[in-house]
Amino acid sequence: MSGAVPVIAIDGPSASGKGTVAARVARALGFRYLDSGALYRLATLEAMRRRLPLTDAEALARAAREMEIAFRDGSLWLDGEDVTEAVRSEEVSAATSRVAASAAVREALLGRQRQFREAPGLVADGRDMGSVVFPDAALKVFLTAEVPVRAERRHKQLMEKGMYAKMSDVVEDLRQRDTRDSTRPVAPLKHYPDALFLDTSALSIDQAVGQVLAWYRESAPR
Ligand code: DC
Repeated sequence: MSGAVPVIAIDGPSASGKGTVAARVARALGFRYLDSGALYRLATLEAMRRRLPLTDAEALARAAREMEIAFRDGSLWLDGEDVTEAVRSEEVSAATSRVAASAAVREALLGRQRQFREAPGLVADGRDMGSVVFPDAALKVFLTAEVPVRAERRHKQLMEKGMYAKMSDVVEDLRQRDTRDSTRPVAPLKHYPDALFLDTSALSIDQAVGQVLAWYRESAPR
């Protein structure tokens, strides 16, 4: 697929910092950015609003196909309403990791994700960007950080939003979500051999961004 619009796939667990790194890499290269987790969150919110049982895979997939969404200036819209805050709630986060385990939902969102691939390039962040959605990505990165570091980052984010959370609950929640995302039968989160491993535990955001850009420059045909 040489000649296709280049994709940088960045996969990894939640609170690893991959969203921030991916968005910054996209900005540095003038590429589009796909936050695929946001699509799963939107599909989940749509399902909750339709009062669908989270076990009805076909109904969930229909909702994922039919929902009207828009990404505008960092805001997320669902059926004409700004849901940027709503999709980040703990309730939606917990439900999303269940909805995302459905093969039918994943299939329903495949086309929407691939539509983001536009010149001059795309940086896509998620769990299966390199393994399923963009297997021909020019660069695949598995970006992670140790659990205590990720818990610290998530805790800080929650506090900044004025949401009090006990550190032990944050750690427990991360572990549960990691287990669900990495043990599901479809598109599990894991470090595949064709992805470069980036542990950001001891790195600043700038350093992580710099490493991904350096790898991309090394991999890009001139
Ligand atoms: O990256 P995030 O925390 O916004 O992702 C929300 C949920 O969606 C999380 O449980 C993992 C899931 N997800 C997925 O299964 N595949 C993706 N490509 C992106 C997210």
